[in-house]
Amino acid sequence: MYRIAVIPGDGIGPEVVNEGLKVLEAAAAKTGVSYDLEHYDLGGERYLRSGETLPDSVLEELRGFDAIFLGAVGHPEIAPGILEKGLLLRIRFELDQYINLRPVKLYPGVDTPLKDKGPEEIDFVIVRENTEGLYSGMGGIQYKGTPAEVSTQIHMTTRFGSERCIRYAFDFCRKRDREKKLLLCAKTNVLTFVHDTWFRAFHEVGEADYADIERDYAHVDATTMWMVKNPEWFDVIVTENMFGDIITDLGAMIQGGLGVAAGGNINPQGVSMFEPIGGSAPKYTGQNVVCPIAAIAAAQMMMETLGEEATARRIEGGIERALASGKLPSLAAGHMGLSTSEVGDLIAGYAGE
Ligand code: IPM
Ligand code: MN
Repeated sequence: MYRIAVIPGDGIGPEVVNEGLKVLEAAAAKTGVSYDLEHYDLGGERYLRSGETLPDSVLEELRGFDAIFLGAVGHPEIAPGILEKGLLLRIRFELDQYINLRPVKLYPGVDTPLKDKGPEEIDFVIVRENTEGLYSGMGGIQYKGTPAEVSTQIHMTTRFGSERCIRYAFDFCRKRDREKKLLLCAKTNVLTFVHDTWFRAFHEVGEADYADIERDYAHVDATTMWMVKNPEWFDVIVTENMFGDIITDLGAMIQGGLGVAAGGNINPQGVSMFEPIGGSAPKYTGQNVVCPIAAIAAAQMMMETLGEEATARRIEGGIERALASGKLPSLAAGHMGLSTSEVGDLIAGYAGE
Protein backbone atom coordinates (compact mmCIF):
# COMPACT_ATOMS: atom_id res chain seq x y z
CA MET A 1 0.00 0.00 0.00
CA TYR A 2 1.67 3.22 -1.17
CA ARG A 3 1.02 6.56 0.45
CA ILE A 4 0.94 9.38 -2.08
CA ALA A 5 0.71 13.08 -1.23
CA VAL A 6 -1.21 15.12 -3.82
CA ILE A 7 -0.56 18.84 -4.23
CA PRO A 8 -2.90 20.07 -6.99
CA GLY A 9 -1.58 23.62 -6.53
CA ASP A 10 -2.49 26.60 -8.70
CA GLY A 11 -4.19 27.40 -11.98
CA ILE A 12 -4.81 24.37 -14.13
CA GLY A 13 -2.95 22.16 -11.61
CA PRO A 14 -6.11 20.71 -10.04
CA GLU A 15 -7.72 19.98 -13.43
CA VAL A 16 -4.77 18.03 -14.79
CA VAL A 17 -4.04 16.30 -11.48
CA ASN A 18 -7.58 14.91 -11.54
CA GLU A 19 -6.94 13.32 -14.92
CA GLY A 20 -3.58 11.94 -13.81
CA LEU A 21 -5.25 10.31 -10.82
CA LYS A 22 -8.14 9.05 -12.96
CA VAL A 23 -5.77 7.21 -15.29
CA LEU A 24 -3.64 5.95 -12.42
CA GLU A 25 -6.74 4.50 -10.80
CA ALA A 26 -7.81 2.74 -13.99
CA ALA A 27 -4.35 1.23 -14.51
CA ALA A 28 -3.80 0.30 -10.85
CA ALA A 29 -7.18 -1.43 -10.66
CA LYS A 30 -5.88 -3.88 -13.26
CA THR A 31 -2.44 -4.47 -11.81
CA GLY A 32 -3.50 -4.66 -8.18
CA VAL A 33 -1.35 -1.74 -7.06
CA SER A 34 -3.00 -0.03 -4.12
CA TYR A 35 -2.38 3.37 -2.64
CA ASP A 36 -3.80 5.99 -0.32
CA LEU A 37 -3.99 9.60 -1.43
CA GLU A 38 -3.67 12.58 0.85
CA HIS A 39 -4.46 16.00 -0.61
CA TYR A 40 -2.68 19.19 0.47
CA ASP A 41 -4.08 22.60 -0.40
CA LEU A 42 -0.70 24.27 -0.84
CA GLY A 43 -0.25 26.99 -3.45
CA GLY A 44 -1.23 30.55 -4.26
CA GLU A 45 -4.69 30.55 -2.71
CA ARG A 46 -3.40 29.26 0.59
CA TYR A 47 -0.64 31.86 0.55
CA LEU A 48 -3.10 34.69 -0.12
CA ARG A 49 -5.33 33.43 2.68
CA SER A 50 -2.77 32.70 5.36
CA GLY A 51 0.66 33.85 4.23
CA GLU A 52 1.89 30.25 4.31
CA THR A 53 3.79 28.64 1.45
CA LEU A 54 4.96 25.40 3.04
CA PRO A 55 4.51 25.15 6.81
CA ASP A 56 7.26 23.17 8.55
CA SER A 57 4.73 20.69 9.87
CA VAL A 58 3.54 19.90 6.32
CA LEU A 59 7.11 19.52 5.13
CA GLU A 60 7.68 16.99 7.91
CA GLU A 61 4.55 15.10 6.85
CA LEU A 62 5.72 15.04 3.23
CA ARG A 63 8.87 13.20 4.30
CA GLY A 64 6.70 10.26 5.30
CA PHE A 65 5.10 9.56 1.89
CA ASP A 66 6.23 7.17 -0.82
CA ALA A 67 5.78 9.85 -3.48
CA ILE A 68 4.34 13.30 -4.14
CA PHE A 69 2.14 14.19 -7.11
CA LEU A 70 2.18 17.90 -7.93
CA GLY A 71 0.00 19.90 -10.32
CA ALA A 72 1.44 23.39 -10.75
CA VAL A 73 2.77 26.30 -8.75
CA GLY A 74 2.38 29.97 -9.76
CA HIS A 75 -0.26 32.63 -9.22
CA PRO A 76 -0.77 35.87 -11.17
CA GLU A 77 -1.35 37.93 -8.00
CA ILE A 78 1.79 36.75 -6.23
CA ALA A 79 5.23 38.23 -6.87
CA PRO A 80 7.62 35.97 -8.79
CA GLY A 81 9.78 33.83 -6.55
CA ILE A 82 7.56 33.57 -3.50
CA LEU A 83 5.77 30.34 -4.35
CA GLU A 84 8.60 29.05 -6.49
CA LYS A 85 11.15 29.39 -3.70
CA GLY A 86 8.79 28.89 -0.77
CA LEU A 87 7.05 25.80 -2.08
CA LEU A 88 8.44 24.09 -5.17
CA LEU A 89 12.15 24.70 -4.66
CA ARG A 90 11.80 24.21 -0.91
CA ILE A 91 10.38 20.72 -1.44
CA ARG A 92 13.07 19.89 -4.00
CA PHE A 93 15.85 21.06 -1.67
CA GLU A 94 14.51 19.84 1.67
CA LEU A 95 13.68 16.38 0.34
CA ASP A 96 17.01 16.39 -1.49
CA GLN A 97 15.41 15.57 -4.83
CA TYR A 98 18.70 16.04 -6.57
CA ILE A 99 17.61 14.74 -9.97
CA ASN A 100 15.13 16.35 -12.30
CA LEU A 101 14.37 13.70 -14.88
CA ARG A 102 12.76 14.93 -18.09
CA PRO A 103 12.17 12.57 -20.99
CA VAL A 104 11.84 14.17 -24.41
CA LYS A 105 9.83 11.68 -26.41
CA LEU A 106 7.64 12.41 -29.39
CA TYR A 107 4.77 9.95 -29.51
CA PRO A 108 3.30 8.90 -32.86
CA GLY A 109 0.30 11.09 -33.61
CA VAL A 110 1.79 14.19 -31.99
CA ASP A 111 2.93 17.20 -34.01
CA THR A 112 6.41 18.57 -33.60
CA PRO A 113 7.45 21.99 -34.90
CA LEU A 114 10.62 20.36 -36.27
CA LYS A 115 10.39 19.83 -39.99
CA ASP A 116 11.22 16.31 -41.18
CA LYS A 117 11.59 14.92 -37.65
CA GLY A 118 9.38 12.28 -36.09
CA PRO A 119 9.18 9.78 -33.23
CA GLU A 120 12.30 8.00 -34.57
CA GLU A 121 14.37 11.13 -34.19
CA ILE A 122 12.94 12.62 -31.01
CA ASP A 123 13.48 10.24 -28.12
CA PHE A 124 16.00 11.15 -25.48
CA VAL A 125 16.18 11.95 -21.78
CA ILE A 126 17.52 14.97 -19.95
CA VAL A 127 18.93 14.47 -16.45
CA ARG A 128 18.99 17.89 -14.79
CA GLU A 129 20.77 18.53 -11.50
CA ASN A 130 18.09 19.85 -9.18
CA THR A 131 19.61 21.25 -5.98
CA GLU A 132 22.63 23.39 -6.86
CA GLY A 133 23.95 25.95 -9.32
CA LEU A 134 22.16 29.26 -9.71
CA TYR A 135 19.20 27.83 -7.83
CA SER A 136 21.12 27.61 -4.55
CA GLY A 137 19.77 30.96 -3.35
CA MET A 138 23.24 32.21 -2.43
CA GLY A 139 23.99 35.84 -3.15
CA GLY A 140 22.24 39.08 -2.43
CA ILE A 141 21.65 42.74 -3.21
CA GLN A 142 23.54 45.58 -1.61
CA TYR A 143 22.67 49.29 -1.85
CA LYS A 144 19.39 48.34 -3.49
CA GLY A 145 17.66 51.14 -5.38
CA THR A 146 20.71 53.38 -5.40
CA PRO A 147 23.13 54.01 -8.27
CA ALA A 148 25.61 51.87 -6.36
CA GLU A 149 23.40 48.80 -6.41
CA VAL A 150 25.32 45.52 -6.56
CA SER A 151 23.75 42.11 -6.89
CA THR A 152 25.17 38.61 -7.07
CA GLN A 153 23.64 35.19 -7.55
CA ILE A 154 26.18 32.51 -6.86
CA HIS A 155 26.53 29.43 -9.02
CA MET A 156 27.07 27.05 -6.15
CA THR A 157 28.63 23.81 -7.34
CA THR A 158 29.99 20.95 -5.31
CA ARG A 159 31.92 17.93 -6.43
CA PHE A 160 29.56 15.83 -4.34
CA GLY A 161 26.44 17.31 -5.96
CA SER A 162 27.67 17.16 -9.52
CA GLU A 163 29.13 13.69 -9.09
CA ARG A 164 25.97 12.15 -7.67
CA CYS A 165 23.95 13.59 -10.54
CA ILE A 166 26.48 12.34 -13.08
CA ARG A 167 26.45 8.87 -11.54
CA TYR A 168 22.66 8.79 -11.68
CA ALA A 169 22.81 9.77 -15.36
CA PHE A 170 25.36 7.05 -16.19
CA ASP A 171 23.25 4.46 -14.38
CA PHE A 172 20.12 5.69 -16.10
CA CYS A 173 21.81 5.55 -19.50
CA ARG A 174 22.97 1.99 -18.84
CA LYS A 175 19.52 0.91 -17.73
CA ARG A 176 17.86 2.63 -20.69
CA ASP A 177 20.10 0.47 -22.86
CA ARG A 178 19.74 2.36 -26.13
CA GLU A 179 22.79 3.98 -27.63
CA LYS A 180 24.61 3.96 -24.28
CA LYS A 181 25.75 7.51 -24.93
CA LEU A 182 25.82 10.16 -22.23
CA LEU A 183 26.38 13.77 -23.20
CA LEU A 184 27.47 16.40 -20.72
CA CYS A 185 25.95 19.78 -21.53
CA ALA A 186 27.80 22.69 -19.92
CA LYS A 187 29.79 25.80 -20.80
CA THR A 188 33.36 24.92 -19.97
CA ASN A 189 34.74 27.70 -22.16
CA VAL A 190 33.25 30.42 -19.95
CA LEU A 191 32.23 28.87 -16.63
CA THR A 192 35.78 27.70 -16.19
CA PHE A 193 35.43 27.00 -12.46
CA VAL A 194 32.05 25.42 -11.85
CA HIS A 195 31.92 23.52 -15.10
CA ASP A 196 35.47 22.38 -14.72
CA THR A 197 34.23 20.55 -11.62
CA TRP A 198 31.47 18.98 -13.72
CA PHE A 199 33.78 18.11 -16.59
CA ARG A 200 36.35 16.36 -14.43
CA ALA A 201 33.71 14.54 -12.41
CA PHE A 202 32.05 13.39 -15.65
CA HIS A 203 35.20 11.93 -17.17
CA GLU A 204 36.68 10.54 -13.97
CA VAL A 205 33.48 8.75 -13.01
CA GLY A 206 32.88 7.59 -16.57
CA GLU A 207 36.38 6.24 -16.96
CA ALA A 208 36.42 4.49 -13.61
CA ASP A 209 32.97 2.95 -13.51
CA TYR A 210 31.16 3.21 -16.83
CA ALA A 211 33.45 1.97 -19.54
CA ASP A 212 30.39 0.64 -21.41
CA ILE A 213 28.94 4.14 -21.81
CA GLU A 214 30.24 6.46 -24.50
CA ARG A 215 30.95 9.99 -23.26
CA ASP A 216 30.26 13.11 -25.24
CA TYR A 217 30.32 16.81 -24.48
CA ALA A 218 28.57 19.88 -25.92
CA HIS A 219 28.38 23.48 -24.83
CA VAL A 220 24.86 24.54 -23.93
CA ASP A 221 24.47 26.91 -26.88
CA ALA A 222 25.45 24.17 -29.29
CA THR A 223 23.15 21.76 -27.47
CA THR A 224 20.13 23.97 -28.18
CA MET A 225 21.15 24.13 -31.82
CA TRP A 226 21.40 20.36 -32.14
CA MET A 227 18.19 19.72 -30.26
CA VAL A 228 16.49 21.52 -33.11
CA LYS A 229 18.66 20.39 -36.00
CA ASN A 230 19.64 16.84 -35.05
CA PRO A 231 17.66 15.63 -32.03
CA GLU A 232 18.44 12.05 -33.08
CA TRP A 233 22.01 12.53 -31.91
CA PHE A 234 20.95 12.42 -28.26
CA ASP A 235 20.42 9.46 -25.96
CA VAL A 236 20.85 10.84 -22.44
CA ILE A 237 21.97 14.39 -21.60
CA VAL A 238 23.22 15.34 -18.14
CA THR A 239 23.41 18.98 -17.19
CA GLU A 240 23.39 21.50 -14.36
CA ASN A 241 20.28 23.09 -12.91
CA MET A 242 19.86 26.35 -14.85
CA PHE A 243 20.83 24.96 -18.23
CA GLY A 244 18.59 22.00 -17.55
CA ASP A 245 15.69 24.34 -16.86
CA ILE A 246 16.17 26.03 -20.20
CA ILE A 247 16.88 23.08 -22.45
CA THR A 248 14.00 21.04 -21.02
CA ASP A 249 11.50 23.69 -22.11
CA LEU A 250 13.00 23.44 -25.57
CA GLY A 251 12.70 19.68 -25.23
CA ALA A 252 9.04 20.03 -24.26
CA MET A 253 8.36 22.03 -27.42
CA ILE A 254 9.91 19.54 -29.78
CA GLN A 255 8.02 16.66 -28.15
CA GLY A 256 4.70 18.36 -28.75
CA GLY A 257 4.41 21.10 -26.15
CA LEU A 258 3.94 21.65 -22.46
CA GLY A 259 0.74 19.62 -22.55
CA VAL A 260 2.73 16.39 -22.89
CA ALA A 261 5.98 17.04 -21.00
CA ALA A 262 6.39 15.44 -17.59
CA GLY A 263 9.17 15.55 -15.04
CA GLY A 264 10.26 13.77 -11.92
CA ASN A 265 12.08 15.41 -9.02
CA ILE A 266 13.88 12.38 -7.79
CA ASN A 267 15.66 11.46 -4.62
CA PRO A 268 16.79 7.91 -5.44
CA GLN A 269 17.04 7.12 -1.74
CA GLY A 270 14.05 9.13 -0.56
CA VAL A 271 10.75 10.78 -1.46
CA SER A 272 10.32 11.86 -5.09
CA MET A 273 7.86 14.30 -6.63
CA PHE A 274 6.28 14.09 -10.07
CA GLU A 275 4.79 16.95 -12.07
CA PRO A 276 3.65 18.10 -15.48
CA ILE A 277 6.25 20.74 -16.35
CA GLY A 278 3.85 23.19 -17.99
CA GLY A 279 3.06 25.42 -15.04
CA SER A 280 -0.20 26.91 -13.84
CA ALA A 281 -1.40 28.50 -17.14
CA PRO A 282 -3.71 31.02 -15.37
CA LYS A 283 -5.48 32.07 -18.54
CA TYR A 284 -6.88 28.58 -19.08
CA THR A 285 -7.83 27.93 -15.47
CA GLY A 286 -11.20 26.32 -14.87
CA GLN A 287 -12.02 26.00 -18.56
CA ASN A 288 -11.39 22.28 -18.95
CA VAL A 289 -9.38 22.92 -22.14
CA VAL A 290 -5.74 22.12 -21.41
CA CYS A 291 -4.07 18.88 -22.34
CA PRO A 292 -3.72 16.61 -19.29
CA ILE A 293 -1.25 14.19 -20.89
CA ALA A 294 1.74 15.73 -19.10
CA ALA A 295 0.12 15.04 -15.73
CA ILE A 296 -0.82 11.54 -16.82
CA ALA A 297 2.76 10.93 -17.95
CA ALA A 298 3.91 12.24 -14.56
CA ALA A 299 1.76 9.58 -12.90
CA GLN A 300 3.44 7.04 -15.18
CA MET A 301 6.89 8.22 -14.08
CA MET A 302 5.77 8.00 -10.47
CA MET A 303 4.82 4.34 -10.93
CA GLU A 304 8.06 3.64 -12.77
CA THR A 305 10.10 5.18 -9.97
CA LEU A 306 8.20 3.19 -7.36
CA GLY A 307 9.11 0.06 -9.34
CA GLU A 308 5.53 -0.54 -10.54
CA GLU A 309 6.48 -1.25 -14.14
CA ALA A 310 3.23 -2.95 -15.14
CA THR A 311 1.13 -0.01 -14.00
CA ALA A 312 3.49 2.43 -15.69
CA ARG A 313 3.31 0.46 -18.97
CA ARG A 314 -0.49 0.52 -18.83
CA ILE A 315 -0.53 4.28 -18.38
CA GLU A 316 1.94 4.79 -21.21
CA GLY A 317 -0.03 2.41 -23.41
CA GLY A 318 -3.15 4.43 -22.69
CA ILE A 319 -1.41 7.63 -23.73
CA GLU A 320 -0.03 6.06 -26.90
CA ARG A 321 -3.35 4.59 -27.94
CA ALA A 322 -5.21 7.84 -27.32
CA LEU A 323 -2.67 9.72 -29.41
CA ALA A 324 -2.83 7.15 -32.20
CA SER A 325 -6.65 7.08 -32.15
CA GLY A 326 -7.03 10.19 -34.27
CA LYS A 327 -9.43 11.61 -31.71
CA LEU A 328 -6.99 14.32 -30.72
CA PRO A 329 -6.38 16.57 -33.70
CA SER A 330 -4.16 18.86 -31.62
CA LEU A 331 -2.77 19.02 -28.09
CA ALA A 332 -2.91 22.81 -27.93
CA ALA A 333 -5.14 24.22 -25.19
CA GLY A 334 -8.59 24.86 -26.58
CA HIS A 335 -7.90 23.01 -29.83
CA MET A 336 -7.89 19.41 -28.68
CA GLY A 337 -11.36 18.62 -29.98
CA LEU A 338 -12.00 17.09 -26.55
CA SER A 339 -12.07 18.61 -23.08
CA THR A 340 -9.40 17.99 -20.43
CA SER A 341 -11.62 15.48 -18.67
CA GLU A 342 -12.62 13.74 -21.90
CA VAL A 343 -8.96 13.21 -22.75
CA GLY A 344 -8.54 11.74 -19.26
CA ASP A 345 -11.55 9.46 -19.81
CA LEU A 346 -10.20 8.31 -23.15
CA ILE A 347 -6.78 7.44 -21.76
CA ALA A 348 -8.21 5.89 -18.61
CA GLY A 349 -10.38 3.69 -20.81
CA TYR A 350 -7.36 2.33 -22.67
CA ALA A 351 -5.19 2.07 -19.55
CA GLY A 352 -7.82 0.00 -17.79
CA GLU A 353 -8.60 -2.36 -20.64
C1 IPM B 1 10.63 24.07 -13.73
C2 IPM B 1 10.16 25.45 -13.40
C3 IPM B 1 10.78 25.85 -12.07
C4 IPM B 1 12.29 25.84 -12.25
C5 IPM B 1 10.31 27.22 -11.55
C6 IPM B 1 8.81 27.27 -11.44
C7 IPM B 1 10.97 27.58 -10.26
O1 IPM B 1 10.46 26.33 -14.42
O2 IPM B 1 10.30 23.13 -12.99
O3 IPM B 1 11.35 23.92 -14.72
O4 IPM B 1 12.87 26.82 -12.70
O5 IPM B 1 12.88 24.80 -11.94
MN1 MN C 1 11.41 25.42 -16.12
